[in-house]
Amino acid sequence: MPATIVLGAQWGDEGKGRVVDYFAAGADYVVRYQGGNNAGHTIIVGDQHLALSLIPSGIHYPDCIPVIASGTVIDPKVLIDEMDKVASQGLDPSRVRLSANAHLIMPYHRKLDAVMERYLGRNQIGTTKRGIGPAYTDKYARSGIRVQDLFDPKIFREKVEVALEEKNKLLPRVYNTLPIDVEEIVEEYLEYAGRLRPHVTDTSLLLWKAIRDGETVLFEGAQGTLLDIDHGTYPFVTSSNPTAGGAVVGSGIGPRDIDQVVGVAKAYISRVGTGPFPTELHDADGDRMIELGGEYGTVTGRRRRCGWLDLVALRYAARVNGLSHIFMTKLDILSAFETVKVAVGYREGDTLHEEFPAQQSVLYHCTPEYVELPGWGTDITGVREYADLPANARAYIEFVADTVGVPVGWVSVGPERSQLVEVG
Ligand code: GDP
Ligand code: IMO
Ligand code: MG
Repeated sequence: MPATIVLGAQWGDEGKGRVVDYFAAGADYVVRYQGGNNAGHTIIVGDQHLALSLIPSGIHYPDCIPVIASGTVIDPKVLIDEMDKVASQGLDPSRVRLSANAHLIMPYHRKLDAVMERYLGRNQIGTTKRGIGPAYTDKYARSGIRVQDLFDPKIFREKVEVALEEKNKLLPRVYNTLPIDVEEIVEEYLEYAGRLRPHVTDTSLLLWKAIRDGETVLFEGAQGTLLDIDHGTYPFVTSSNPTAGGAVVGSGIGPRDIDQVVGVAKAYISRVGTGPFPTELHDADGDRMIELGGEYGTVTGRRRRCGWLDLVALRYAARVNGLSHIFMTKLDILSAFETVKVAVGYREGDTLHEEFPAQQSVLYHCTPEYVELPGWGTDITGVREYADLPANARAYIEFVADTVGVPVGWVSVGPERSQLVEVG
């Protein structure tokens, strides 16, 4: 797998971190290409737990270089704290490479994220309040501040002054909150500059050379396909492109350099925050998924909404990402169910939508059309060979692969690194 994208095929939290950790065993580089510290990627090796928000999930392997590419938005304090955290867990953060073109999350972005959500009231998106949306807004308004600006104090100060000229009108006048002081920001951020400097490089060039030299590069998506700004359930999305195209744009490489695209999907589905969710369960089955699956957000601790696997949405993810494989996670959680359901269409009156609807209102009004498959009723967390999975579990996996039209290459049966099965 010389250049492989691993991305979320649902609404995030599919288990991308553990999947990337698994593939990273043979990788030279792992690249985060979009998003910021709205992501929370969990890796469990033995009894060591690691929750990462910015550092790519290859950090466990000493020969793997973690790269944070230009499509990301970086809260410098969060990155520095995370590097200190992994160091305290015995891992080496000195290899982390950070793009000079990545945009900075500034204190006014965090503040705006919080007050704008409050302002939206009932219509709020349920963001992580990490400043992600406002940072990307400034990037596209061409008023963003980039990592490279930290290394020119004069330019940095000027850019902060220009930004605050606008934000300090907006914050008190529109959002009724206190303005922000230029000096405080400049002093704080220029201190981060020294810490970040050794990590900063031209990551596009680094990756181009790596791919030319035949090295193995993994691209790690954050969030998921249905949270994509262009292809997700807008406006209940994040402000970047987690989909496969985002990996190319966000890393500064060409599309012909990508060999495979692996979509990570839970054996069921979850979502944090607001927005439509056709297969959401509001019953004992949903509560069971949440409790057994430990479905509480890694970043915000919020209870995740859960439901049966949505194959309409998964087929859509296969299409918009050009998936070559599916990696199905958390199959062990479904062992508790006597039967398991999968949605194969959305019914709206006499119409059965088999394709993910372009008109978002359908997602609110439809009733999922389910196929009910027999459960397997036995603990599978110790299974490591495909043939040793119960026949009904294999039938479930094969039904998913057939319906989506993409092979399921791997299935995980527990959160620990070794708890997975290669599908034979
Ligand atoms: P990510 O954001 O896509 O990396 O996913 P998160 O780390 O936010 O959420 C996935 C959660 O599921 C984490 O707590 C993982 O430890 C856990 N997990 C991943 N794979 C499995 C699995 O196969 N079985 C179980 N029971 N838990 C898993
Ligand atoms: P990982 O990488 C799940 C959701 C938020 C909210 C919406 C917008 O761990 O899968 P934002 O702060 O990005 O502006 O919030 O997106 N969201 C996630 N949901 N997993 C994530 O990341 C998410 N990152 C953002 O809950 O609904
Ligand atoms: Mg997560």
